[in-house]
Amino acid sequence: MSARGIAILGSTGSIGCNSLRVIEALGAERFKVVALAAGRNVKKLADQIERFGPELVSVESEESLAELRRELSARGISSPRLSVDEVGLVEVATHDQAECVISATVGAVGFVPTLRALEAGKRVALANKETLVMAGELMTRAAAASGAELLPVDSEHNALHQCLRGEKRSEVRRIVLTASGGPFRKRDKQGIAKATVAEAMQHPTWNMGAKITIDSATLMNKGLEVIEAHWLFGFSPDEIGIVVHPESVVHSMIELVDGSIIAQMGVTDMRHAIQYALTYPERHPSSLPPLDLAKLASLNFEQPDLERFPCVGLAYRALRTGGTLPAAMNAANEEAVHAFIDERIGFGDIPRIIAEVMDRHQPAPVTNLESVLHADSSARAAARLAIGRLTTGTNLSAA
Ligand SMILES: NC(=O)c1ccc[n+]([C@@H]2O[C@H](COP(=O)([O-])OP(=O)(O)OC[C@H]3O[C@@H](n4cnc5c(N)ncnc54)[C@H](OP(=O)(O)O)[C@@H]3O)[C@@H](O)[C@H]2O)c1
Repeated sequence: MSARGIAILGSTGSIGCNSLRVIEALGAERFKVVALAAGRNVKKLADQIERFGPELVSVESEESLAELRRELSARGISSPRLSVDEVGLVEVATHDQAECVISATVGAVGFVPTLRALEAGKRVALANKETLVMAGELMTRAAAASGAELLPVDSEHNALHQCLRGEKRSEVRRIVLTASGGPFRKRDKQGIAKATVAEAMQHPTWNMGAKITIDSATLMNKGLEVIEAHWLFGFSPDEIGIVVHPESVVHSMIELVDGSIIAQMGVTDMRHAIQYALTYPERHPSSLPPLDLAKLASLNFEQPDLERFPCVGLAYRALRTGGTLPAAMNAANEEAVHAFIDERIGFGDIPRIIAEVMDRHQPAPVTNLESVLHADSSARAAARLAIGRLTTGTNLSAA
């Protein structure tokens, strides 16, 4: 058996690093890292080059590229083939020795490279949910045309994939995504609006990158996941439910027509989902400790509060409307989250900005790549204007 080639987009991030740990644990006879793409964390990337010896490596900018060259030469590591920017991301995503591409950049930057990987017929282990939110139709069409497999790494969708294995679609009534509820599950609306960056970064159960952690605090993460689930599994908005489950032990569940519920449970460690996506349809022993149910005093479930967390409703609205509205919503969310992390706007401004951009957006059909990129850039411009007005003290609704 020859080792299967793996390319990773976003290798220095939370999912990227966990993916490398999984690959290492599964052994060099099974998987070989052939290409890596990262942003600016040159030191971590140099460590990865030293350890995994990829043939191709890409970074975000010429500046990072120069820094990487210096770092490799100072450490006496021979340089792999190097590339940069979106061209580099696409080269990594379509590397001819890569059978599987782990899509783990954050936000819209992963969209084109992930689409190219699917067009090239690669298995895509997808963490970068924003790509499916932006253009699920294009992604799934590309996968169907090339025969590429799209396997979810997001723990909820990975759980659903496991629950749906072997079930007939006609016998599944609905799917239910679980949500931890985030750090503000018990706060009132006014308290949520005033949350600080440090508070919003305290995720109760998962340790993740900054953007998804803020998305989890607004519950937009769950909204993005509703759209992701629609494209991955073909359920309508009315057939996709959400339940808050603070322990994050049940990763998601399906409800069958006879009323049975099948849930997938496990420890809160993304390495389970990553390994599943890499080894599917096989299962391999994992080095992670299994879930100890006896140690869990209880499992709790509650309805999400859509009034305190309006981002969930915005995502359902985007999915129901369709066309380019989900791409516009995603772009506005990314801009608002970055502005919040930079302390330019308050936490309560995030849903307001997204709603304003969505209200102004004229949804068009997603016909091709350009229609999505156009919706993305015009929504970003609208979001930046709204953010600018807030930072200069102009009332959002009055503008
Ligand atoms: N973390 C989780 O547990 C988790 C769970 C489910 C789903 N997800 C999803 O997985 C994706 C990644 O999340 P994460 O938490 O791993 O994010 P993260 O820790 O912030 O990592 C993001 C990665 O993308 C790279 N990157 C950013 N901008 C780039 C650019 N312009 N060009 C090339 N690379 C770029 C970063 O590089 P540098 O760091 O080198 O700049 C880093 O390697 C997100 O879509 C998230 O929603 C994450």
